[in-house]
Amino acid sequence: MLNYYQSNAASMKKQILCLLAVVLGIPCTVSAQVDYESDIQPIFNASCTSCHGSNGGVNLTSYEQLMSSTGTNYGNDLVVAGDPDASGLVDKIEPNPQFGSRMPQGGSLTDEQITLIRTWISEGANEVATAAEPDVEIPSAFRLMGNYPNPFNPTTNIEFVTPEAVQYTISIYTVHGMLVGEQVGNVATGKHSVPVNLTNSPTGMYIYRLSVLRNGVNELLGTGRMTLIK
Ligand code: HEC
Repeated sequence: MLNYYQSNAASMKKQILCLLAVVLGIPCTVSAQVDYESDIQPIFNASCTSCHGSNGGVNLTSYEQLMSSTGTNYGNDLVVAGDPDASGLVDKIEPNPQFGSRMPQGGSLTDEQITLIRTWISEGANEVATAAEPDVEIPSAFRLMGNYPNPFNPTTNIEFVTPEAVQYTISIYTVHGMLVGEQVGNVATGKHSVPVNLTNSPTGMYIYRLSVLRNGVNELLGTGRMTLIK
């Protein structure tokens, strides 16, 4: 599989996202990886449709055309879903085809392109790689979710999501703007819950601010109110 990564950046991104999810303890599967429209059709457009266009025989201008094409020699076995070795399309792009000359006539596809076409057929030769998206959503944006529990005594958890590893700062103020405490830490991608303990503070309402350090700049993610009741 590794050899088509270079020519299949979208698939690689999915794999990496999935890997990340699994590291975070979130289940994730990537099944079909090759997408006809973005991975396969461009190969045909570049190397095949000049000859296999609208005229009869093998038409490689779209998924529908390809799947309904009948070859002079391979008949309806141009694409046998799940079985690249039985597919005339694959036989014709590899060296020494059973019938006629290797395609594209007068040249050849790269090994990566051939592997992509083989993989697409192995995965079922679907028009859309339906199950290709990871089952989980990797956080796409920074988000302050709030604190829990609230009211609290003496510990509450400030919850937030980060789409990348960052250094965060949580600052706690009284309602009059006096700094009560500050906590700095580092987190990986994902959802976080940082405990804040106000055991030495009196009952009352407090304000917290969450910021993250990105490219050397502290960016405010949000503020919240919380009530300590002793
Ligand atoms: C320069 C013109 C030309 C290009 C470009 C070309 N082909 Fe062909 N193709 C032909 C001709 C002519 C035949 C019939 C003769 C033969 O089979 O060698 C053919 C036959 C085929 C067949 C066999 C159909 C059958 O059952 O007989 C397949 C499959 C095929 N081409 C696929 C492709 C693919 C895939 C590409 C692009 C990677 C491609 N061709 C590029 C001219 C071309």
